[in-house]
Amino acid sequence: MYDFAADIADCALAVETALDRHLTAARLSGPGPAADRLVAAMRHGSLNGGKRLRPLLVRQTATIFGVPPAQSLLAGLAIEAVHCYSLIHDDLPAMDDDDLRRGRPTVHKAYDEATAILAGDALLTHAFGLLSHPDCHPDSSVRIALVSELVAGSGAGGMAGGQMRDIEGETAPLDASGIATMQAMKTGALIRASVRIGALLGNADPRALSALTAYAEAAGRAFQLADDILDVTATPEAMGKATGKDASQGKQTLVARVGVDAARAELKLIINEALSALRTFGPKADGLRATARYFGSREN
Ligand code: IPE
Ligand code: IPE
Ligand code: MG
Ligand code: MG
Ligand code: MG
Repeated sequence: MYDFAADIADCALAVETALDRHLTAARLSGPGPAADRLVAAMRHGSLNGGKRLRPLLVRQTATIFGVPPAQSLLAGLAIEAVHCYSLIHDDLPAMDDDDLRRGRPTVHKAYDEATAILAGDALLTHAFGLLSHPDCHPDSSVRIALVSELVAGSGAGGMAGGQMRDIEGETAPLDASGIATMQAMKTGALIRASVRIGALLGNADPRALSALTAYAEAAGRAFQLADDILDVTATPEAMGKATGKDASQGKQTLVARVGVDAARAELKLIINEALSALRTFGPKADGLRATARYFGSREN
């Protein structure tokens, strides 16, 4: 029997332990020694917290194809590094201007804005170092495919582009399809990349990859929709970050358009869409099924 609580806890511990080992001055040094303050800020922004859901998606997808969790961990760390960078920059005064993240001061509060910008830059760059390392996958053509996938998920047509749309939306309201596009990009794109990277590690055939992509796109929409609902319904204590801010910042969300009840109904539909994309996979996809359900029921 698949045990979601055990899987998510085991994954979070593996990610925490590995990030702690990777994010050191010795391992981050290049032509020159890594700057201590920068390493400290990178660690602040990525250790001690986070649900580690993107590495979980990588591992659960890879598991479908028989790849053991230890062999998908480095790829999971790469996505998590990009995710942490995206949060550090998302919290900057020029963006959402938040002081609290994962129950602690944001990186620009604990350090300063310049350090937070650079910590994000360095985490993003480190992600590509992780994916291109032979320990990530022995076949260099697979590693190149993983890199391309992360590029698509994080760049102007993915997360960064979605963040641009989010900021533009504060002053130029979006219609329903504009909101959906923004959400699919700012949050959905990295979730999509997580699942597709897991599938590439498992050498998935094109049909499996396309079914898993459909799952990931629905799961990504569900994830941001839940985040937007929780911004209205949850406490900062539960979330470890400020809540009740989206409306005051003029964020374009489905919740703002249709209200919490209708947004919750939509969330249920999207989770079912994600689940039905997995129908051909049998019990091997129980991990991904549980994660989709968790996206619909999470409380932080
Ligand atoms: C928060 O992501 C930002 C969004 C994309 C909505 P998570 O809820 O996965 O944040 P952590 O990593 O667990 O802190
Ligand atoms: C963040 O969306 C998405 C990314 C960081 C890419 P939000 O701005 O809603 O995330 P939170 O609520 O600050 O975690
Ligand atoms: Mg934001
Ligand atoms: Mg934010
Ligand atoms: Mg939010």
